[in-house]
Amino acid sequence: MSKAFDILVIGGGPGGYVAAIRAAQLGFTVACCESNPYADPRGKPRLGGTCLNVGCIPSKALLHTSHLFSEAARNFSGQGIEISALTINVAKMLARKNAIVDRLTDGISMLFKKNKVAFLPGHGAFIGKAANGWKLTVGKDEVEAKQVIIATGSKARHLPNVPVDNKIVCDNIGALDIDTVPKRLLIIGAGAIGLEMGSVWSRLGAEVTILEAMPDFLAVADIDVAKEALKIFTKQGLAIHTGVTIGEVKVGKKNVTVSYADRNGKAVRVEADRLIVSIGRIPNTEGLNADAVGLQVNDRGQIEVDAHCKTNLAGVWAIGDIARGPMLAHKAMEEGAQVAELIAGQAGHVNLDAIPSVIYTNPEIAWVGRTEQQLKAEGTDYKAGRIPFLANGRALGMDAPEGFVKILADAKTDRILGVHIIGAGASELISEATVAMEFAGASEDLARICHAHPTLSETLHEAALACDKRALHF
Ligand code: FAD
Ligand code: NAI
Repeated sequence: MSKAFDILVIGGGPGGYVAAIRAAQLGFTVACCESNPYADPRGKPRLGGTCLNVGCIPSKALLHTSHLFSEAARNFSGQGIEISALTINVAKMLARKNAIVDRLTDGISMLFKKNKVAFLPGHGAFIGKAANGWKLTVGKDEVEAKQVIIATGSKARHLPNVPVDNKIVCDNIGALDIDTVPKRLLIIGAGAIGLEMGSVWSRLGAEVTILEAMPDFLAVADIDVAKEALKIFTKQGLAIHTGVTIGEVKVGKKNVTVSYADRNGKAVRVEADRLIVSIGRIPNTEGLNADAVGLQVNDRGQIEVDAHCKTNLAGVWAIGDIARGPMLAHKAMEEGAQVAELIAGQAGHVNLDAIPSVIYTNPEIAWVGRTEQQLKAEGTDYKAGRIPFLANGRALGMDAPEGFVKILADAKTDRILGVHIIGAGASELISEATVAMEFAGASEDLARICHAHPTLSETLHEAALACDKRALHF
């Protein structure tokens, strides 16, 4: 006898667990299966997916500890705080990070119990159609569900012929568990992971080199933000080389040597104690038995969906990293709620044009909407307001004068088209910009809203005023 549910969610990451909880809130019988045991000492699959186990949460814990260390080492004395000896206990730093992960993943299990979501440990795969929906296997069990939500996420892309042992050559999993500060750390890929993990270990004393294939640094960000970031990160000690072509990677017992051609084609060899490969992620469709049921997967490995996350199969949905759009936890969560609500006949909706992006370096980088280079390429007539944090009293008090806020608005209608921030607190400030954009706000709307003083948010206010060439404090 197979178990039967209204909805089976495959994958317990931020997309899957939110979909399951929201669907249960809406009165459905829901099960969520999860197969990855990550690092659970009990040997059981853990909920939370990449984000909680080996992504967002552990990386932010390490970024916080290393930020405090770096502030103490470099900036405290300028404020009159003298420290004579400063050391980092890496084991303790990792234990703290692991405790946060344990707490949050256990928290999802508790939320499942509270909302009566059945947790089915095991790998989910399609068998075929059932009388009323779909028949699947979860581990050795058979499960029937009227609707299936695929939230199987993604895994690290590796370099061809360079096996990841998560000791000398790491992907995100090993990068979050490096147990001593490497003397020399090499990172391939100057994206979100490369910059965040490079920052962690550089702050703790490693010599960090980052090799990036693209000719431009951080091409996904606004061009001014990318330029400012490169300047600041280089000053912090990150050696970032763009336009490289990676050649041979030789892995020894205690070190690794990477040969590459630099942007001028010159052959270079670099040796390091550890290598982190962070060159993007690939969607997890392995073992889903997608072909057998005719589930459409595109040439990037993503499950094809429409604007409502519907796949080509009736009653089958796909959300989060497995589907198009940015690979971000908050995007996955929003789609989880969207699909649950659509199944319930409600008007679930996610605006992919207003998903904020954040890189948690110091200073933080955050943006939402179009970049200046995109607006130029599209031929949109726009105006810009840009204000540096140097002109903000709170930023100076916090010893955080670096960076700026830049608002791009339509030249005719004044509608905000993009907001780009590099500076302290950017990850929080971007929410105000996202709200403004979701309400189809104009720069004048932000300019007319009273912002508390002294706060970093006043820089956003001033940038909005600057769109109309009437900044008051710059
Ligand atoms: P996932 O979180 O990948 O979860 C999918 C789950 O499905 C996994 O647990 C997997 O084991 C399971 N699964 C797969 N196939 C099956 C199957 N057939 N049966 C059962 N279970 C299955 N995003 C942010 O927004 N902010 C950040 O700060 C951030 N930092 C990151 C840092 C790092 C180092 C990494 C690697 C990623 C980071 N991300 C961040 C991205 C974020 O983790 C992902 O976008 C997010 O986890 C995607 O959620 P998801 O639910 O789609 O998939
Ligand atoms: P990424 O897509 O952010 O960056 C990968 C970088 O590697 C790109 O700049 C790319 O040009 C480069 N690259 C690709 N192939 C290369 C090669 N052969 N040689 C040299 N460079 C190469 O991917 P990353 O950093 O692996 O992170 C994966 C995803 O996880 C991100 O795209 C993001 O969606 C998510 N993430 C989000 C974070 C956040 O929101 N703060 C933090 C970390 C990850």
